[in-house]
Formats: sequence, C-alpha cells, structure tokens
Amino acid sequence: MVSNGYQSGFGNEFATEAVPGTLPVGRNSPQRVAHGLYAEQLTGTAFTAPRGSNRRSWLYRIRPAVMHGQFTPFAQPQLQGDFSRAEVSPNQLRWNPLPLPATPTDFIEGLYTMGGNGSPDAHGGVGIHLYAANADMRGRYFYNADGELLIVPQLGRLRLLTELGVVEIEPQQIAVIPRGVRFRVELPDGQARGYICENFGALLKLPDLGPIGSNGLANPRDFETPHAAYEDRQGEFELVAKFGGRLWRADIGHSPLDVVGWHGNYAPYRYDLRRFNAIGSISYDHPDPSIFLVLHSPSDTPGTSNMDFAIFPPRWLVAQDTFRPPWFHRNIASEFMGLIHGAYDAKAEGFVPGGASLHNCMSGHGPDAATFDKASAADLSRPDVIRDTMAFMFETRAVIRPTAQAMAAGHRQSAYQACWNGLRGNFSVPAAG
Ligand SMILES: [Fe+2]
Repeated sequence: MVSNGYQSGFGNEFATEAVPGTLPVGRNSPQRVAHGLYAEQLTGTAFTAPRGSNRRSWLYRIRPAVMHGQFTPFAQPQLQGDFSRAEVSPNQLRWNPLPLPATPTDFIEGLYTMGGNGSPDAHGGVGIHLYAANADMRGRYFYNADGELLIVPQLGRLRLLTELGVVEIEPQQIAVIPRGVRFRVELPDGQARGYICENFGALLKLPDLGPIGSNGLANPRDFETPHAAYEDRQGEFELVAKFGGRLWRADIGHSPLDVVGWHGNYAPYRYDLRRFNAIGSISYDHPDPSIFLVLHSPSDTPGTSNMDFAIFPPRWLVAQDTFRPPWFHRNIASEFMGLIHGAYDAKAEGFVPGGASLHNCMSGHGPDAATFDKASAADLSRPDVIRDTMAFMFETRAVIRPTAQAMAAGHRQSAYQACWNGLRGNFSVPAAG
C-alpha cells in the first residue's frame, strides 16, 4: 500500500481514486461500478444531520465490508471500556511514561486504558488510553465502533494504513481515525508510544473563532486527508473490532483495506501541532487555556464540550505585571494532560515526555513551588520565550475515572502532591503606626 500524498482542508468533500476511472460520475451507486468494484456508503453522523455537520463517504472497494467470519471476544485486559464502576477520588494524580514492551506487542496489544467517562452506548464521554508497541500489525486489522480515535504520538512514527489511504505521523503530529474506519498500524522506527483519546461523542471539529476572526489557532488548510490507496491481498487474516467497550475478533480472508477510490467528507486526517497559531496576551494576564484549543467534540450544551483537545506549544511570553505561567486554578472541567516533547512551563520537574497527569473537577492545581518562586521573581522588562515544549490536554465535561490498573501502576507517582509542599504562606501585614 503506497502513500499517495494528502488532500488539504478540514471536513471538505474530497474525491480520490488510486486507479483512474474508478469514481462514478453524477451518481453514487451506479448499477455496475467501474473495474468490478462494490459501492458502499460509510456514514459517521445521522443521515439527517444538518448539512454543515453531516459526514459520510462513498467507498468503491474490491469486496464489501460485510465479508468476514463470526465475531468472538478478543482478550486484551489492558484495554477497558466500562468506567461506571471505577473508583475516583479528588486527589491530583501523575504518572511516569508507560514502559515499552519487552515482548513483541502490536498497536492493539499495546493499548492501555488510563481512564474515561460516559459510555459508547450513549455516544457521550471519552476513553483515555496510552499505547506502547514494538511490532507491526501485519495480518491484523482493526476498527472502533465505539468512537473516533485521536492519536497523539510521543515516541516513534506511526504508519496508519486505513481503508481511505495511508496516514503517516511522528511526534508533534496527530491523527484522527473516524469511528468505523478499518486500519492497521506499522511502526517505521520499530517501537512507538503515545496517547489516545477515544471520543464517544460528537465528531471532533474546529472551534469557532469569535472575535479572533477568520484565521488563527489551527487553520483548516493544515489538516491533511490521504488519497486513496489499497491492498489487494488474500490470506488468513484477523479483523478486530472495538464494540460495546470491549474487543472482538473475526477471521477475514482478505485485506479490508481494499478501497480503490472514494469520495466524501468522512475520512481520517492528520495535523502538525507545530503549525498551530498560538494566540495570547500582549498586554497583561494569562488568558484561559481555551485559547489553545485545537479541536473539540461539542455536547448538547452550547459552549460546553464533551471533550476539548488543547495544546501548549512554543510561544513568547510578554505580559506585563503578570504571573506568566498558567495560574493556580480549579475547574468544573476535568483535565488529563500529557507531554509530547521538551518541558512544560508550569512544572520544574517530574512531568516528563510520555508522562501524564489527571486533575479532576474542582481539584486545585497549578505551578509547583519551584516554578512559582522563579516566575514571581522573573524580570518582566523583557519577553521570555518557551522554545522546547509541546504539552497537551484532553479536557472533558464529565469527571475522568481512572482505571484500577492506572491507580495501581508501578509508573504512578504516589508522591505527586508533594510538588506543592514548598509553597509557603507569605502573608504579612505592615505593623500599624
Ligand atoms: Fe488546569
């Protein structure tokens, strides 16, 4: 399967064919499709969703998706999907990176659930996972009926061979695989680790920009969707599905990545986080972190997301008479953070690339003592620049319930809260008279 490059834009109507003359003209499902292919529609929103949010694609493929054996349960105990019984506390939590596997482990076998909320049954909430893998998926293909996958690599490149084309990403790029799209994963660097937000809710979209105007934050032209590419091969393969919060497997006698041409607006895409146009204060104060929003999954309540994906990229800090790092705060939202690259400006140590933190609803958090002391004494007469960083946040409306395995994990930092111990009470009142 050869990568044929990308098409630019977010949610556009794309049309692409790996063999000339594949796409029908003027209709979607002609009596006979060119080259003996089957026509099949893949629909990612309700048929009657408003035109601006309606997502579907027409696939022209060697065999229809229905052709596979019976699904039976597939054991992968690290991947979990029922958060309703997970215990949750208001404690601030932090983890070191997930250790890389010692034995051959592909992308599916290497998924590790950290927590989540909601349910795929109700089409609301998220699953938050890590992955650590060191083997290609060769005869194994996967799709997720529970949600779309926002993949955030931290170590190693990923080659995502999907029904709709090949998406290649490296750390500081992200990819989104829509619900239902079949794919397999190759690891060009031999090993890979990263983060995944499994979005059970409404499809990720770009935020409205309000008074920012028509440009800024993540620009639509920087999102890239692959051109059609296909595998025409038969063999004893396996199709793995995530459905109802757990994995299933079925035999399949051919590669399901056999789409020769497709058109529509429901397709995987990638985005390079280094292209994000960061906007911030040029006078005073640190704006709310919503200024760093890349994509969000809206809920039924206006302005309240099922999930926000925000990043903290390299940027200049120029605000005057201002505590420049992120301030101390408590939110109604719940925040799962990760670090892709470099250092994060609100923590002096302990939050390393590949690590993670969880600050749930109304749990206080903010800079550690060392960062507070440094920023309080900083010379604000000159700008400061943060060059070497890329942190991100999966922020959700509902409380994020960590899994029991994440709470018991050897890589959890049980003493995380001690990072704030050095914050002293500095209050003093001048003596009267
Ligand atoms: Fe926060």
